[in-house]
Amino acid sequence: MDELKAKQEAERLRKEINYHNYRYYVLDRPAVTDAEYDRLMRRLQQLENEFPGLITPDSPTQRIGAAPVKAFGTIKHAIPMLSLDNAFSAEEAIEFDRRVKRLLKMPHDALIIYAAEPKLDGLAIELVYEDGIFTKGSTRGDGYAGEDVTRNLKTIKSIPLRLIEPPDGKVPDYVEVRGEVYLPLESFKKINREKEKKGEALFANPRNAAAGSLRQLDPRITASRPLDLFCWGTGEVRGVTFDTHLETLEFIRSIGLKIAPMIKPVKGIEEALKYHEELEKKREELGYELDGIVLKVNDLDIQKRLGVLTRSPRWALAYKFTPKQDSTVVRAIEIGVGRTGALTPVALLEPVSVGGVTIEHATLHNQDEIDRKDVRPGDTVIVQRAGDVIPEIAGVIKEKRPHGAKPFRMPDKCPRCGSMVEKIGAIHFCTGGLSCPAQLMESIRHFSSKKAMDIEGLGDMHVNQFVENGLLKDVADIYRLKKADILRLERWAEKSADNLLRAIENSKKPSLGRFIFALGIRGVGEHMAALLEKKFGSLDSLMNASEEDLLGTYEIGPETARSILDFFIEKHNRDVIDKLKKAGLDLQESKRAGGRLTGKVFLFTGTLQTFTRDEAKAIVESEGGETASAVGKKVDYVVAGKEPGSKYDKAKETGLKIIDEAEFRRLIGKG
Ligand code: IVH
Repeated sequence: MDELKAKQEAERLRKEINYHNYRYYVLDRPAVTDAEYDRLMRRLQQLENEFPGLITPDSPTQRIGAAPVKAFGTIKHAIPMLSLDNAFSAEEAIEFDRRVKRLLKMPHDALIIYAAEPKLDGLAIELVYEDGIFTKGSTRGDGYAGEDVTRNLKTIKSIPLRLIEPPDGKVPDYVEVRGEVYLPLESFKKINREKEKKGEALFANPRNAAAGSLRQLDPRITASRPLDLFCWGTGEVRGVTFDTHLETLEFIRSIGLKIAPMIKPVKGIEEALKYHEELEKKREELGYELDGIVLKVNDLDIQKRLGVLTRSPRWALAYKFTPKQDSTVVRAIEIGVGRTGALTPVALLEPVSVGGVTIEHATLHNQDEIDRKDVRPGDTVIVQRAGDVIPEIAGVIKEKRPHGAKPFRMPDKCPRCGSMVEKIGAIHFCTGGLSCPAQLMESIRHFSSKKAMDIEGLGDMHVNQFVENGLLKDVADIYRLKKADILRLERWAEKSADNLLRAIENSKKPSLGRFIFALGIRGVGEHMAALLEKKFGSLDSLMNASEEDLLGTYEIGPETARSILDFFIEKHNRDVIDKLKKAGLDLQESKRAGGRLTGKVFLFTGTLQTFTRDEAKAIVESEGGETASAVGKKVDYVVAGKEPGSKYDKAKETGLKIIDEAEFRRLIGKG
């Protein structure tokens, strides 16, 4: 290649890399996979190695990261926070080991001792402790200076605000500890579920969620996200010295900080490769994301001899796992219809193997999400399995969009039954209710599922078959299935029909909670159903509950209350419940007769001294009573704590019985 051509290509690469840096570091919204980014970076490096005259001071190869965002103050790192060289194959890892030995003038069969560590997929930070006190913390930023996120880091429970004394009793005067802030997968999923409910843009993966959570200008938001930290090294340290990297980590642990599990010394590259293999297998079970292993020459003197390059040390290597991201083409966008009538757009993909799993579909959640990502049929997209079984589209590679690709619009008629579609919040719903076969099938599947009525043997295939053959028009029809009708269908025999009918018979005595859950009321999951069972005790009292009664139930908000009311107002639903009762449904209701407070309604105002409000409410309910949230005729007792509010005045006006906390304690037998 001649120098002119190389120059042109290098310029193009720099532009592209800078754009991706901006997407990644500033917007937290990458447009390419890490692997793709690394390829670009390596190609640029290769050109610059070949023609050193091409290196410019602003080339992305000349710096360690991206500039910090302005809103936070900046903190300079006393020692630059370097990056790591990457290997993507065993050959590349072996080549790294060879180079180390070459630089050290060691024989090629010598065995180097490496500290082998998991590579955590999070956000690098530095913590500064002065005289044992946490004084400041920062992100890595461009490697030389990062954002001052001290207040946010203080919300992370695993970061001690004061160091504990190591065994020799000497807390160092000054120590900088470095590590990776990450978000456990469970929390990541939960945050995205909540964002989805509110119709907000979702985080693409746990790392972006961790970055987004840590770089909140309002630390209260950070505090509500259960971030965690594993430390992997130190910056400047005064007053203690170490001989090996593993000693350094042990010291970090001894002063009260967390280091990652599964760190160990390995002897020679063969053992390191085995470690990589082991960890890649374990990766799925960990509850947080790893993207590879890190090998570090353990001996600190040898590290010093090897030295560092601009971006990364010569004594360390990140050997990555197979990425859980790749690119593929969207063949079409199809619509699924769920139990509640929610229409979910799903991308049908050219099959692609991502981290060992073949992916052909990816959920697109809703129209807002499609608009935000601007996904169109025909687009080349980045798909990822982000700590979840359901693959997602992380972004669109706009440069590869075919001419004439049209934006996707949700249909205004249900693709399954032709009913009108209405949009509530971010979600489109089919208005066909149970006349829509898709909704009917889903609601029957839900009704018979394990956590609901638990009818073994009534799986998806059979539900579809029964619905298609007109045997099931609602869930109550399950209890009217006749053996003769079943035997008329394909693939059924005497024995299998008997088994199914027995399972159906056995499901006739569910607990009230299971039954409420089985009804599939929008917003009422397993947990909510259990709360309703506890509060109302019987199906009748739930069906006759007022909005106020429902709102007085712990954890039930206005939306869920509304959806419960709507469900029971619907005549069809009442009819189905009647039909179920006639077919022999025998609900196990727990009418809590005999509680000390049965039938009594309490209203709390002001601060109680010996209970929290929730505890007091829970006690009332466990004794068979109820709580109200507003002054009304039904209220039997108003319990006034310290500094009662306007409810107190209103209760006085209305002439309700007002008692103090001591009296309340007597009523519940704790006087
Ligand atoms: S050591 C000079 N160890 O990976 C050594 N880094 O790609 C600097 N990372 O910026 C890093 N786990 O954010 C090291 N066990 C580990 C790590 C780790 C994750 C991150 C870190 C670093 C990036 C480099």
